[in-house]
Amino acid sequence: MSAHETSIGPISGQKSSKAGGAQSKCVAHLKGQCSLPGDKSISHRALMLGALAVGRTHITGLLEGEDVHATAAALSAMGVGIRRESPGQWVVDGVGVGALQTPDNILDMGNSGTSTRLLMGLVASQPIRCFFTGDGSLRKRPMNRVIAPLSQMGAVIESRGDGRLPLLITGSDSPMPIDYTLPVASAQVKSAILLAALNTPGTSVVREPKATRDHSERMLKAMGAQITVEESGTGETGRIIRITGEAELSPVDISVPGDISSAAFPLVAAAIRPGSQIRLKGVGINPLRAGILTALEQMGAPVTIENRREEGGEPVADLVMTGPERLKAVTLDPAIAPLMIDEFPVLFVAAACAQGSSRFTGLEELRVKESDRIAAMAAALSACGVAVEEVPDGLIVHGTGSPPLGGATITTHLDHRIAMSALVLGCASDRPVSIDDAAPITTSFPDFMPLMNALGTEITLL
Ligand code: S3P
Repeated sequence: MSAHETSIGPISGQKSSKAGGAQSKCVAHLKGQCSLPGDKSISHRALMLGALAVGRTHITGLLEGEDVHATAAALSAMGVGIRRESPGQWVVDGVGVGALQTPDNILDMGNSGTSTRLLMGLVASQPIRCFFTGDGSLRKRPMNRVIAPLSQMGAVIESRGDGRLPLLITGSDSPMPIDYTLPVASAQVKSAILLAALNTPGTSVVREPKATRDHSERMLKAMGAQITVEESGTGETGRIIRITGEAELSPVDISVPGDISSAAFPLVAAAIRPGSQIRLKGVGINPLRAGILTALEQMGAPVTIENRREEGGEPVADLVMTGPERLKAVTLDPAIAPLMIDEFPVLFVAAACAQGSSRFTGLEELRVKESDRIAAMAAALSACGVAVEEVPDGLIVHGTGSPPLGGATITTHLDHRIAMSALVLGCASDRPVSIDDAAPITTSFPDFMPLMNALGTEITLL
């Protein structure tokens, strides 16, 4: 173990929790209020951009899940001083753009696609070499989407045959700027290019046909990078991002808002239990993340947004959900997909409890997440007595308007969002719903069970 690894204590991308199941029973309703763990996307970026700044970045509210630990451990192995001062409070001593070191071991990114793809961008324009690997889920995920643009910038990347981990990336000592149009709507790919561009001379351009989460752009701007964002006018929401490299980033204090992707689980649990009343405090409501609020409103479960404010360059608010008497089925506009891409598994649960058939399409990206989330949720819902039709790019859910049967054990496929969605389904099912493996939940929401149970759910480890 290197000196850098010891400086951040016992964190790594490896799972610490043992595989074991969990079970969720039907409850009358949810009541109460709570704060959510820090936003996962913003937490990764706070550590990475802090690592590239000149000087010390203080972070509060950092998500302490396995995925973010994987990022911290990798940066530490590349020579960045990272210290946890108290729960959620971390200090990063940045080394400056272009000053990372070759780690002395393979980087195990665990389950985290965001860590892997963004860190590949960070490495691509520096003369260092890194081996990346991950768990059984991450090793199945496509990396060609980042290999292609980063290779154009000069990085040399050798992957297992078909663009999957494990891979070796050798960053370029003379990187070239690119003008790149994203073939898929992906904030990870966009961010990988922006991070590589920071140490690349000239101006790099990323064109996104559909806008995706802009946390990287917001944080880069706040740290003094030369970055502009223009509406592209070509699509409904397209954007052109230009960034000039050989930058110097100034450290800023970063306060990480609560994660709306984690908030989606109690929000849907309350929406499917009539008479529920919950308040979630300090949740990030960046418009490029908040599609779940629109979807729930269309289903007859509007979220009341209170106490709107701005924290660390991100819009934040308290979210109040009152469980309606009944949920309506919805045909969701596929254009909303990038604005709530991680929330579909739990939205399918809401649709399962709604009256009528809901149609969700334009979701081909769900097939290459931590699991094939269309197939995994189709299997989970039908095992619990809900009729579904799987289509190549989505799911049709025939909700009955009454509690689903439940009574099944759901396979989670190393996917935290499948695990939590199944447990939310159990809150409203006639018979308990179990999951085979609760360990993946720690990747994004380590306190999921105590937090949900404090709001009134009955979720237990098996
Ligand atoms: C993320 C982007 C999304 C999302 C992931 C986090 C990010 O992935 O699914 O959980 O932090 O940039 P894609 O970029 O692959 O859509």
